[in-house]
Amino acid sequence: MKLPNMLEAKKRTTAIPKFFDYEDNKSKFGLGKKYFIRTYGCQMNEHDSENIKGLLESAGFSESEDLNSSDVVIMNTCAIRENAHNKVFGFLGQMKKLKEVNPNIIVCICGCMAQEKSVVDEIMKKYRWVDLVFGTHNLNEMLSYLEKNIINKEKIIEVESIEGNVCEGLPVKRDSKITAWVNIILGCDKFCTYCIVPYTRGKQRSRKKEDIINEIIELKESGYKEVTLLGQNVNAYGKDLYDNYDLSDLLNDVSNIGIERIRFVTSHPWDFTDRMIEIIKTKENVMPYVHLPIQSGSNRILKLMGRRYTKEEYLKLFDKLSDIENISITTDIIVGFPGETEEDFNETIDVVNKCKFDGAYTFIFSPRENTPAALMEDNISEEEKNNRLQRLNKIVNKYSNENNKKYMGKIVKCLILGESEKDPCKIMGYTENMKLVNIEGDKSLIGKIVNVKITDAKSFSLDGKIEE
Ligand code: SAH
Ligand code: SF4
Ligand code: F3S
Repeated sequence: MKLPNMLEAKKRTTAIPKFFDYEDNKSKFGLGKKYFIRTYGCQMNEHDSENIKGLLESAGFSESEDLNSSDVVIMNTCAIRENAHNKVFGFLGQMKKLKEVNPNIIVCICGCMAQEKSVVDEIMKKYRWVDLVFGTHNLNEMLSYLEKNIINKEKIIEVESIEGNVCEGLPVKRDSKITAWVNIILGCDKFCTYCIVPYTRGKQRSRKKEDIINEIIELKESGYKEVTLLGQNVNAYGKDLYDNYDLSDLLNDVSNIGIERIRFVTSHPWDFTDRMIEIIKTKENVMPYVHLPIQSGSNRILKLMGRRYTKEEYLKLFDKLSDIENISITTDIIVGFPGETEEDFNETIDVVNKCKFDGAYTFIFSPRENTPAALMEDNISEEEKNNRLQRLNKIVNKYSNENNKKYMGKIVKCLILGESEKDPCKIMGYTENMKLVNIEGDKSLIGKIVNVKITDAKSFSLDGKIEE
């Protein structure tokens, strides 16, 4: 048994991470058994779940959409805010009932919450019937844990609190045959004072460029149209591994592979260089879309958050990016950070009024275990925090709507991904700059890039029809 240790997780040394290849699993102990997986959190977790599915299927398991008839239930969890926790504990309540009816069902918890000491303590105390807990650093070991659990019927808790390594060649079962996630950098060293990610995901580790490029060549050869390069801060790519190779070089090399669309998330303003902007501007298959979290418009709060840029620096970068033809820029904003005054909040509103973002994910500050911000005095009432969030959302939505309205009557290129969720008679896809479009059109277009005429615009999506 190994429990998480948040102090260990915080350590950063100059040691080079271990790069190793996954050793194929030989045992088919899952044949005839079904698994059910639920994923919380960010795209990196979504992609981890694709690896978990790949691993399970390599051992003979098959996926089930039905929780009640599955043999193994996996919760790939997120720790970013308290409500993410609550969702998982809510689901665990549901699992308890299922386990009472069917004691043989195996319940596994993995992902970022498994890296938190308080969570694992609570599982050991209140949810003793959970069978397997493992963290983000030892995903590659999950089959051996699961097999041991099935054979010996023993509960297993194995969470590593290390800086992290880089495992290549994990099996993967991708959710889409059109767009694919590709990790380029793992972990995070920024330690923004509110954020738990550097503790749950470890040190910033870039994957080797050859491994990334080979993965994307393979994806292109198997018909994928789009890749999204993933990392908590993709703009730091290469810094920990190469003297002279960064995200702009990687984007350039990936662009030359010739895959139709290349995206990247998330960008930290601090590591954005002019060369990266130039590449986005000039490379036709690098999509004009940047997610550039600002978090706050107040320099005082930005400093307390440890974000390492000022409002003015952000605005300067934003202006440079705005020069890119057809670009859309979205952001993340936290309200109610400890000590945020009405003036601080107004600074955030001011930035939103200046940038007129295409979209923004807005959050109320949530104190996270062991992070510095959790110890800062929080003197803002819940009511005030909610009030600020609502005021902010109103303005954010106004600009999303206004920006979308500009597309009325225009013809845009969409990559069609599938049926529309809103209307199964329609199809849906994304524009180059990441606008969701619900389209009147035939399902045979799924997987193709087509011209679409925009007929209506809402705050969060566009409507359109195929332009012959
Ligand atoms: N790596 C990305 C963000 C990853 S987390 C970046 O640095 O931009 C996604 C978003 O969750 C963050 O941008 C932030 O807005 C929000 N977030 C992170 N920790 C939070 C916390 N403790 N409370 C509220 N929101 C938080
Ligand atoms: Fe968290 Fe900051 Fe790292 Fe983003 S850059 S993951 S907000 S610590
Ligand atoms: Fe959540 Fe972990 Fe992603 S905390 S946001 S799943 S890196």
